[in-house]
Amino acid sequence: MKHDLIERNVGLLAILIIIAISFGGLAQIVPLLFQKETTEPVDTLRPYTALQMEGRDIYIREGCHVCHSQMIRPFRSETERYGHYSLAGEQVWEHPFLWGSKRTGPDLARVGQRYSDAWHEIHLMNPRDVVPQSNMPRFPWLADNILTGEDTKRKLEIFRNNFGVPYTDEDIAGAKEAVVGKTEMQALIAYLQSLGHAFR
Ligand code: HEC
Repeated sequence: MKHDLIERNVGLLAILIIIAISFGGLAQIVPLLFQKETTEPVDTLRPYTALQMEGRDIYIREGCHVCHSQMIRPFRSETERYGHYSLAGEQVWEHPFLWGSKRTGPDLARVGQRYSDAWHEIHLMNPRDVVPQSNMPRFPWLADNILTGEDTKRKLEIFRNNFGVPYTDEDIAGAKEAVVGKTEMQALIAYLQSLGHAFR
């Protein structure tokens, strides 16, 4: 009888469905907020250096994440191509995270150290010089733009104070000096080479 009532009353049905889904959602999501595995960094995780931090911001500015994911899924087809699947503990200091789901180009979660710095530079200047069939855009201006380091110190401070990334006072004091005069190309390559360092 009661079931009959629910089936005939769409509003009630909708409300009960929402309650049922919320419980399901809570049961799956809430434990993740407290599990060490998802909230604590893996032992080998190192914070981005000042230069890598600038490189990451350039990666975001240029929209690299629109074509490249940084999330290796736990499937054989992925792990054989890209390496060990991505772990939550590698990502706890990522703000904002750059996992993505659409791949116009390959996943980059573990691309660090796979190519030389020189390869990356040629590739970013003109991808066709190393991968003839590539449809990745060129980014030649990165080699001309020089970093001023104006905001670098502030960025590291924000990551330490708001997100708990363990930067030392020396890291922060030396942040500007570590990047000033370097090209955006150098910063971006430093960032790319760091990807996946914690767990290869
Ligand atoms: C329009 C989509 C697109 C954008 C935007 C893009 N890429 Fe790519 N990228 C590709 C494609 C397609 C490939 C595969 C062909 C190649 O290697 O050039 C690729 C390959 C790569 C590779 C080699 C990966 C490997 O495992 O061989 C790296 C590194 C890379 N891109 C970095 C970047 C960076 C850094 C940026 C931003 C400055 C960027 N890409 C922007 C499409 C894109």
